[in-house]
Amino acid sequence: MATVKVGNGAGVTTYDEKEEDKVRPEDLSELLGAGTKEIHDKAENNQFVKDFLRGRLRKELFKLGAVALYFTYTAMEEEIEKNKDHPHFAALYFPTELHRHDALARDLEYFYGPDWQSVVSCSPATQHYVDRIHEVGQSDPVLLVAHSYTRYMGDLSGGQVLKKVAQRALKLPATGEGLEFYTFEGIHSAKAFKQLYRSRMNELDLDAATKEKIVQEAVHAFLFNIEVFEELEEIGKTLKDEVMDAGMPVHGEMDGDINK
Ligand code: HEM
Repeated sequence: MATVKVGNGAGVTTYDEKEEDKVRPEDLSELLGAGTKEIHDKAENNQFVKDFLRGRLRKELFKLGAVALYFTYTAMEEEIEKNKDHPHFAALYFPTELHRHDALARDLEYFYGPDWQSVVSCSPATQHYVDRIHEVGQSDPVLLVAHSYTRYMGDLSGGQVLKKVAQRALKLPATGEGLEFYTFEGIHSAKAFKQLYRSRMNELDLDAATKEKIVQEAVHAFLFNIEVFEELEEIGKTLKDEVMDAGMPVHGEMDGDINK
């Protein structure tokens, strides 16, 4: 039996991997992985995402991306808080380890200054995503599982590559300012935490039809993210050159293996 510890000193969660934790094809973690594979490939191949990965990243767009994330996580974590005791969500409630609202607020303060709240606004594509999160939280909270899975598991996977690229391309300080969103202080091993999260999803008492509904919602969550990327891509086309490439190498290829 392997013991995995996640969390910081304040709240360490211990997870014992037992025989019965071995995954089966009907487990939600497996259904989600398989059911979102195609749309994940599509997200990774989106032009904005590909440019980001290659270090072709404009600071203005990165900042707008952080704004989109701020509104998205504000909505998601608001609905999670309201539903934290819901039997179909409670096991996935990890505010210390996962929640990104405060980190994003600090990133936006870094990028936009102390008045950031009066400067930023929610874009149409982000509003579309936010509206769906609120709808789900209010009328079908089990679908919050799909939204949390899509964002947090992604942040703990490809998100860690994006952090390194952004730090280098935008020459952000090594102290981590502007990149707090990507830094999970309460998680020492992303791999171990993802394992815990998967097993928690699999322990939820859900019938096959509900699991299928969650997978479909996760596909939609990916689509909302792609819509936001496409919007950023369009905004990018309207930015003036001197704003676009301000003081950074835009052709730097990334090293490291980013394959799924
Ligand atoms: C998983 C990379 C974009 C959501 C992964 C994994 C990698 C990865 C390497 C596998 C992690 C593992 O097996 O433990 C990337 C890269 C991306 C990208 C390089 C492009 C920048 C996205 C986007 C989303 C997303 C846009 C959704 C918003 C997920 C999710 C998982 C995942 C939910 C977990 C899959 C599972 O284990 O069931 N990603 N990803 N990724 N990614 Fe991405």
